[in-house]
Amino acid sequence: MTILVTGGAGFIGTNFIFDLLSESRELVVNLDKLTYAGNRHNLTKLTDQEHRLVEGDIGDRELVDKILNDYAPTHVVNFAAESHVDRSIHGPRDFVDTNVLGTFNLLESVRAYFDKLSSEKKEKFRFLHVSTDEVYGSLGPGDPPFTENSPYAPNSPYSASKAASDHFVRAYHHTYGLNVLTTNCSNNYGPYQFPEKLIPLMILNALAFKPLPVYGDGLQIRDWLHVSDHTRAIKLVLKKGEIGQTYNIGGQAELANITVVKTICEVLDSLVPDPQGRRRSSLITYVKDRPGHDRRYAIDPGKIFDKLGFEPLRKFEEGLTETVKWYLNNGAWVQNVQSGEYRRWIDKQYGQN
Ligand code: NAD
Ligand code: DAU
Repeated sequence: MTILVTGGAGFIGTNFIFDLLSESRELVVNLDKLTYAGNRHNLTKLTDQEHRLVEGDIGDRELVDKILNDYAPTHVVNFAAESHVDRSIHGPRDFVDTNVLGTFNLLESVRAYFDKLSSEKKEKFRFLHVSTDEVYGSLGPGDPPFTENSPYAPNSPYSASKAASDHFVRAYHHTYGLNVLTTNCSNNYGPYQFPEKLIPLMILNALAFKPLPVYGDGLQIRDWLHVSDHTRAIKLVLKKGEIGQTYNIGGQAELANITVVKTICEVLDSLVPDPQGRRRSSLITYVKDRPGHDRRYAIDPGKIFDKLGFEPLRKFEEGLTETVKWYLNNGAWVQNVQSGEYRRWIDKQYGQN
């Protein structure tokens, strides 16, 4: 069996490929544009029989057609995206190009490929689109968590572009009968996450005794899920999900940002105490809020629990401690990603504060 993964050199894609290959002998073809967020070194320990990296754009019809015809995948899992909300505020164009037009072009190639499959192969084929809870907008303090029936109400250019891609995926099922599945997941954390996102940014800043920039009052709430629970959920949806359906994935771990940041400080203080006795929480610095900042996300995972028997396995405190240790033990990876582009971003985003 061959599976085409897009964006597999990024954070969740890398974890998904390792997870998949740890228990099966499939060939993974990984189409990745290797933007600043994609890292070809993540997967170099895999053999050629397990993994082939193709550098390219999901929006490149000719390339995607060729990959589909050459490898004849039974499944396509689409992780490829521009994924950082703050970057979408500075420059939304890339988000439209990849998340909207790229997904559209990918769907066009996949549709042409699917149409030519035998009915037996069609039955087995799946296109799984990996999306986000941010498409549902923002919740008030007492609102019930998002279900699959919550109306779409995206607030950032990032979430608007993901919402558009979700709608195209849905339309390709209803109009063309493509065997699609969509997952909408909450905030992930774990190894290989690019340190522009809250948790790795705070770990690395706290380790280096740099300021910890908390947006606004720090009371915004996110629903955290360890990436290994997300990748396990995706495998379950691929295997048992009903074609055309959407599954929300979440950790039932709603936490205010300031609580997450303080916990990171405590974990680091105990793992790597400062010889001068400084507490990392003294580095917390409240900075200008993110424009249009969504106040609260929370997922109701009832559908995937009931229909597919999913349940998150990692408790937040335990997963966070492991994640901190991963960043402590992978200094070469960290150094490699904290390169020119990373520094440009940090100056642009935090330089004014
Ligand atoms: P990431 O930014 O770490 O990785 C994205 C990957 O896609 C990178 O390897 C990048 O090189 C690649 N890519 C970008 N544009 C491309 C293009 N045009 N063609 C081919 N490859 C391209 O993102 P992530 O955090 O791993 O997220 C993966 C997916 O999961 C995204 O679709 C995101 O919207 C979704 N998601 C993320 C989270 C989260 O908390 N990180 C939560 C829910 C859903
Ligand atoms: O909910 C799922 C989404 O989670 C994914 O779709 C996105 O791809 C992913 O980036 C993430 O989006 P968020 O905007 O929630 O993640 P981020 O790590 O950027 O921020 C988490 C929270 O922390 C958010 O409320 C903003 C805040 N924050 C973030 C950074 C980078 C800060 O207070 N300071 C910071 O420096």
